[in-house]
Amino acid sequence: MVLTNGNEIFNNARKGKYAVGAFNINDLEWTRGILAAAQETQTPILVQTSMGAAKYMGGYELCLHLVQDTIKSMGITVPVVMHLDHGNYEAAKECIEVGYNSVMFDGHDLPFDENLEKTKEIVKLAHAKGISVEAEVGSIGGTEDGITGAGELADVEEAKTLAATGVDYLAVGIGNIHGVYPENWQGLSFDRLKELADVIDTPLVLHGGSGIPKEQIIKAISMGISKVNVNTELQLAFAKATREYIEAGHDQDVDAKGYDPRKLLAPGTKAITDTTIERIKWFGTPSI
Ligand code: 13P
Repeated sequence: MVLTNGNEIFNNARKGKYAVGAFNINDLEWTRGILAAAQETQTPILVQTSMGAAKYMGGYELCLHLVQDTIKSMGITVPVVMHLDHGNYEAAKECIEVGYNSVMFDGHDLPFDENLEKTKEIVKLAHAKGISVEAEVGSIGGTEDGITGAGELADVEEAKTLAATGVDYLAVGIGNIHGVYPENWQGLSFDRLKELADVIDTPLVLHGGSGIPKEQIIKAISMGISKVNVNTELQLAFAKATREYIEAGHDQDVDAKGYDPRKLLAPGTKAITDTTIERIKWFGTPSI
C-alpha cells in the first residue's frame, strides 16, 4: 500500500529526530517531479495540495486520482501521504469525504475556542476513517493562497490544548514565514520551539520551509520538528529552469512535427526533482 496516512511516518520521525518533507503540487509535472525524488531517495514523502492548487487543477477528487494514478504509472513503491495543506473547515471535510490520507485544518485565524471546537470535529471525522489531522497554532507569517498571517509565536498553553484534541501533527508558529524571507528576518525562535517541544509529544510541523538557512532547519529538526513544508523553493526552481531553457532559445526549436510543449516543461520538472532530493537530504529522512 503506497498511499498511507502520516501517523507512523511522523511519529517515527519525531522519535528518530529527523523530518519528512511535505511538498506542494500544482500540476502533473510537479506531481511527477516530487514522486521521482521520493523514489530515487527511497524515502517516504508527503504530497500536498493547497485549496488554491486543488481549485486550479479541478478539485480534490481529481488531485487524489492524479496522485494515485501517477504513483501507479511511475511504479512508485515508497510510502506517500496525500495531504490537504491549509484547509478551511469545509475543505478539510471535503478531503475526508473524498479519501485524502491526511488533512490540515487551519483555524489559526479563528477565535481560539472556535479553532479548538472545529479541530475536535475534524479529528473525529478524520480518525473514524483512519485519516491523519494537522492543526495550526500561532499564525505562520507571510501570504499563502491569499491567507496572510502576521507570524506571531505559538502560545504554549494553546498549543498544549490543541495537541490534546488528538491531532496527529501540530503546525507551530516559531517565527517562520511563507514565501521569501525579508532581509530583516529575525530567524526561528528556538526558545519558543524548546518550550513547545518540552511539553508536547505530537510531531511538530515547520511551515515556510523555503529560504530558512540549512543550519536553522537542522537545529529545529533536532528539537522536535518532524515535518517540513516546502513550496516556494520548488516554484523558484521550476521558474528558473524554464526561464533558462527559453533564454537559450530552445522554445524556438521546432522540428518536423512542430513545437513540443513537453520539452519546455522537462527542465522545470527535473529542477523540482533535484530541489526535492536536496531538501530530503537536509531533513535527514532515512531510506526505507
Ligand atoms: P514555503 O512556500 O515558504 O516553502 O512554505 C510552504 C508551506 O508552508 C506550505 O504550507
